Amino acid sequence: MPGLPRRPCSSTDRKPSSSTGRATDALVAPVPWFMVVLPLGTMSDLAPRAAYDRWAATYAVEGRNPLTDLAADLVRAHLPAVSGLRIGDLGCGTGRWLLALDQLGAEAIGIDLSGPMLAAAKAAGCLRLAAGILTALPLASESLDGALLVLSLSHEPDRIGALQELARVLNPGGWALIVDLHASAADRGWKRSFRDAAGESRRVRWHAHDEPRLRRAAAISGLQVECWHEASLDASRLPAGAPETASTGAALYALRLRRWP
Ligand SMILES: C[S@@+](CC[C@H](N)C(=O)[O-])C[C@H]1O[C@@H](n2cnc3c(N)ncnc32)[C@H](O)[C@@H]1O
Repeated sequence: MPGLPRRPCSSTDRKPSSSTGRATDALVAPVPWFMVVLPLGTMSDLAPRAAYDRWAATYAVEGRNPLTDLAADLVRAHLPAVSGLRIGDLGCGTGRWLLALDQLGAEAIGIDLSGPMLAAAKAAGCLRLAAGILTALPLASESLDGALLVLSLSHEPDRIGALQELARVLNPGGWALIVDLHASAADRGWKRSFRDAAGESRRVRWHAHDEPRLRRAAAISGLQVECWHEASLDASRLPAGAPETASTGAALYALRLRRWP
């Protein structure tokens, strides 16, 4: 994180997205990565807790892929200064952002619904961790200066409940940066899949929250939209054999919100 270029956050900073075509190709990659269509037949999607409880053992290694690299680019571009601030990493997983926030001088706390993901975060050196869900955070009202949600809100069906809870725990004037899967990826047939410690392919349920719905949920929750930015995967960063739809249209969005002062 430190030393990397920052880009200003602007509501007009938007790439065109398209949702043409359905993915049918299998991804052939040296390591599996989770935001692609895999030929998994009738496999049913696991609920997030069950999925991440299984994935925790391999997430730190397998969870690094072109999509999470793009998510990192968006966080770097849109994260406000955090030094000296109390920041919640909501859906912190194995703690990769918690560690980065600590390095940047924040007092960061990680919240996650998966005990094994939290245990992995603890083993990685994260100090402040708590079990909880986005719609019922184990945090006092007005206790955070900022919040980071990377690839977690899309697992929560109740986006309004989650944003209302976010508004409750943020100080007046506090911000939240959400980086997550773009809704058009669902139209293109993207699934979130991973391989567990036994080598079995699994899929995890996700919900496509599109821009109008997110903006409405923010308004209902008393959160102001500071920026909306869409980004696509760069075809040159994809592994050989990745389906064409992997780099067609928007892959992720970054949404920065601020609680009204
Ligand atoms: C794709 S991982 C991302 C982890 C981390 N933010 C990162 O970027 O590496 C999603 C995480 O969100 C957590 N999660 C999913 N739904 C959640 C919810 N409703 N409340 C809290 N955590 C949730 C999962 O357990 C998982 O650790």
